[in-house]
Amino acid sequence: MENVSERIQSQSIQALESTIRKSENALTQMTQKGANTTLIEKRLKALRIGLSMLEHVWQHKPHPYTSGDLIEARSVLTGLMPSIDNSLAKAKEGSPQRTLLIRRMQALELAVQAMDELMKGGTPVNSYYGELCTKIYESDKSLAEGRELDFYLSFVDRTDMRVLEPMCGNGRMLIPFMQRGIQIEGFDISEDMLKVCREKGDRFNLKPHVYYQKIEDFVSSEQFDLIMIPFGSFSLLPSELVNQSLANLQSALKAEGKLLLTIMLKGNNVEEIPEWRETDRKVVNDELIVLSKKVQYRKEQSMLVTELKYELVKDDKIQKTEVMNFPLRLYDMREFEDILRENGFQHIHLHEVKDGYGEGTYFHIFECSLSDLSQGAT
Ligand SMILES: C[S@@+](CC[C@H](N)C(=O)[O-])C[C@H]1O[C@@H](n2cnc3c(N)ncnc32)[C@H](O)[C@@H]1O
Repeated sequence: MENVSERIQSQSIQALESTIRKSENALTQMTQKGANTTLIEKRLKALRIGLSMLEHVWQHKPHPYTSGDLIEARSVLTGLMPSIDNSLAKAKEGSPQRTLLIRRMQALELAVQAMDELMKGGTPVNSYYGELCTKIYESDKSLAEGRELDFYLSFVDRTDMRVLEPMCGNGRMLIPFMQRGIQIEGFDISEDMLKVCREKGDRFNLKPHVYYQKIEDFVSSEQFDLIMIPFGSFSLLPSELVNQSLANLQSALKAEGKLLLTIMLKGNNVEEIPEWRETDRKVVNDELIVLSKKVQYRKEQSMLVTELKYELVKDDKIQKTEVMNFPLRLYDMREFEDILRENGFQHIHLHEVKDGYGEGTYFHIFECSLSDLSQGAT
């Protein structure tokens, strides 16, 4: 993949972008006609993953996909190739249509090659919030408390309210809600985080209703009074998944329901760390975990890309290593407000919670809703 010329790289990226646009248009038309869109949605997802792979290998952009996603996308993309071959056989020599098809085919082949290389290399493809990372998270962020917890609780004003927490992780917020008898459920893509959440629930005689689910694929059969995503987790989503994720939240929100979202804001000075640097060591349950970091800020994409390396050390020997890609999309407040508005949310209020994460800290949170019934706090 390294030997591919810059010209072919940019041609291939453009070819996939244009195929994605075409499929998006087709999807819109089919939706308007009420046609079955399962196949085209699957194809669109695979194409997006394919594009993401090319950008990952050539432009070092982070991607949020798991090995399972790659396997599924690979099979969809290879399934598209015979029909392109057929059209190629019929296309006139030297015609623009033929050039387009050749480039499309080449882009698909390169995307599949990129997937194969990633999986073959045994790179922990997105070992997201794995076991060691979860241990560290749980060791210092087990249960929300103080001003942060009070802020979220202040939105629960009826006993029959139903709350949803996407990206709930280890249940840091979900468990304190359950302890107060609030009906809440959550989902996450880290099985390790979910396991810790369930175990913590057990210790408090609670049975958390939490499950594996990607926010970008979330389809709810129920609707909630309150949906909340604390702690900047929404910033973990790459830009291309933001609109779909917001649409999914929208359909899970009651007309008079409220959405509370935190994001990571631009503006703080970022210290880039080009080479691995040890930043922390912790003893968790008698085990020493050493944390190292690399940090890069990609200004054009407003992405703060951190690579985290967790090493479990016993008798001076590394027993286990976990590398995690931790890309964060940083936003301007105004920019995120516009994104919410463009995605159909109204009554947008920005709250600042002083001492939110402890004395001397503060965080910002967007409150929004869908309907005119919502009053919104200030
Ligand atoms: C920083 S943790 C925060 C957990 C929780 N919101 C809290 O306040 O403690 C972020 C969580 O988001 C989850 N996550 C990341 N991408 C996700 C996605 N696409 N869908 C669902 N969960 C996701 C991660 O697995 C992780 O557990």
